[in-house]
Amino acid sequence: MSPNDIHTPVLLERCVELLAPALSRDGAVFVDGTLGMGGHSEAFLERFPHIRLVGLDRDTDALRIAGERLARFGDRVTLVHTVNDGIAAAVRSAGYDAADGILFDLGVSSLQLDRADRGFAYSQDAPLDMRMDQTTGTTAADIVASYGEGDLRRIFERYGEEKLAGRYARAIIAARQQSPVDRSGRLVEILIAATPYAAQRQGHPAKRVFQALRIEVNRELAVLERAVPDALDILPVGGRIVVLSFQSLEDRIVKRVLAAATASTAPAGLPVELPEHQPKFRLLVRGAELASDQERERNPRAIPVRLRAAERVRAAA
Ligand SMILES: C[S@@+](CC[C@H](N)C(=O)[O-])C[C@H]1O[C@@H](n2cnc3c(N)ncnc32)[C@H](O)[C@@H]1O
Repeated sequence: MSPNDIHTPVLLERCVELLAPALSRDGAVFVDGTLGMGGHSEAFLERFPHIRLVGLDRDTDALRIAGERLARFGDRVTLVHTVNDGIAAAVRSAGYDAADGILFDLGVSSLQLDRADRGFAYSQDAPLDMRMDQTTGTTAADIVASYGEGDLRRIFERYGEEKLAGRYARAIIAARQQSPVDRSGRLVEILIAATPYAAQRQGHPAKRVFQALRIEVNRELAVLERAVPDALDILPVGGRIVVLSFQSLEDRIVKRVLAAATASTAPAGLPVELPEHQPKFRLLVRGAELASDQERERNPRAIPVRLRAAERVRAAA
């Protein structure tokens, strides 16, 4: 299978259109903060032959595959193994002091979901890992084995928005007293058995719990809270950022950070807005943009996407 077959870049044309004005300068730096298999990056490198790419991913498999895919672009490409809240340091380590265009295409890739041994998918039995970066950190199995009932309940509620969080937390605690819950198949069985019959028809019982565990394992929301402001900090005037979110918890964070960046900081009641209070960014799209019906039909991964974008209009103080 080629990378093209396993991951169709979401909202590619819209991302190109929104970032194009920021990438017109010869030598402009494009940062792909979630490189994955390099689908978006490859298209940007082809369409803007004068740009340079800094591609970041915390997953070494993704970096290897994207590295092979992008090898033909030679020294226009620098790939960095990092969590993307290290975006500013990664850009500096690649030899640049700013980024003209930045893209975040959040979440897991089809590669991660489809590789059974990564444990992200509730449809395939595998060790409960779920780390995007398999070189470090706590696995989902560690969490399921060690968190108390209250903590399991809290993450299922908070990161899965799961109504049966308490019931599932109790079922896991009871099951792990019998034998370790270290495979996705066993966790799915426990969750199905703990789901009342009426609720079984409202989607797969494991979907939200798996989402919650993945977010906890990879600290996804805490990282995003830092990564978007850090990305804004390295954009020069005219620099642009596009963020694609795939669930409401991520989108809420992006919305809040961009709202703050595009707001005036003038104290309430001041009759005129002083230049230093004017917003440093402007929003490029109203609200969150969705994929078209045609794209949703062609590419099911595009169904939940929410796109937000902004441009720097004033230099940092
Ligand atoms: C949805 S995929 C990106 C797909 C890519 N745009 C393409 O077209 O091939 C998301 C990728 O970002 C990586 N990723 C997610 N969150 C990350 C983070 N906080 N820091 C670094 N990489 C991250 C994942 O490991 C995954 O490979």
